Amino acid sequence: ALKIIMDSDPGIDDAAAITMALNNPNLDVKLITAVAGNVTVDKTTANVLKLVHFFDQDVPVAAGAAEPLIKPFEDAARIHGESGMPGYDFGDDYGQPIAKTAVEALHDAIMAEDEVTLVPTGSYTNIALLFKQYPEVKSHIKQIVAMGGSISGGNMTSVAEFNVFTDPDAAAIMYNSGVPIVMVGLDVTLKALLTPATIEQLPALGETGKMLHGLITHYNDGNEESGHPMHDVNTIYYLLHPESYTTKEMWVDVQTSGPAIGATVADVRGAYHDGKTNAKVCVDIDDKAFNEWFLAEVEKIEK
Ligand code: BDR
Ligand code: CA
Repeated sequence: ALKIIMDSDPGIDDAAAITMALNNPNLDVKLITAVAGNVTVDKTTANVLKLVHFFDQDVPVAAGAAEPLIKPFEDAARIHGESGMPGYDFGDDYGQPIAKTAVEALHDAIMAEDEVTLVPTGSYTNIALLFKQYPEVKSHIKQIVAMGGSISGGNMTSVAEFNVFTDPDAAAIMYNSGVPIVMVGLDVTLKALLTPATIEQLPALGETGKMLHGLITHYNDGNEESGHPMHDVNTIYYLLHPESYTTKEMWVDVQTSGPAIGATVADVRGAYHDGKTNAKVCVDIDDKAFNEWFLAEVEKIEK
């Protein structure tokens, strides 16, 4: 199985991504760290713990950064609810994070492996701090498959996507780290909407289907007619089914100030950076295959 480490801010689509990762035999989740983003870090940490407990797994969970490196913190509770995971009662008994901070836990978990894939689905604050403090981890990371960014317009401003907009300075550090990055941005995630027909079938697929249905029907991204974007789930789907994506190698820069703050700017023509690239950008997806895979995966989960 592919060894992965997730760094997330659940968040309804993060919760769906964690659900898919924890239950797939081809993925071996070594650690999940939490970061402030959709809601505060105490809540995102609790939400990761709720999911690990729901699936009765013993994956370690560590709490990370409470705020971006420089920019003031702003949550997205208007999209994901006050708790970050509304619409399902996970109970109060879901345990505690490990004593290590996210940066320490990431360092130890990465150095313990020859090669691991990092999957960030929140802002990249923990990862930027990790790379500054422990640059030696970089050579142990096979690639970073990151949800965030866009080369075709934003969801926070006309040019900026939420995860990058939340902590643009961290995103700039990650994109300039030299570690290979797959950018899973709005260019594909806004195309891969979970359709109303897919969502309608979830409650019949067991407790996991009921849980996801509860969350998704409380999700203010997308709507009942068009369906809902499962942004973060695309990272997991990409790892398992890269053939469903069209990608292009590009150089991606991040705007850290000014009116375009949080924008990912790609050197689409390859001219400015002399043909050098730092990311594989997902530019298209088979959204029908995504919907079919999503349902089939939930159906396979025993709970
Ligand atoms: C990203 O922003 C968050 O609200 C979602 O969880 C996703 O990671 C989409 O822009
Ligand atoms: Ca997220």
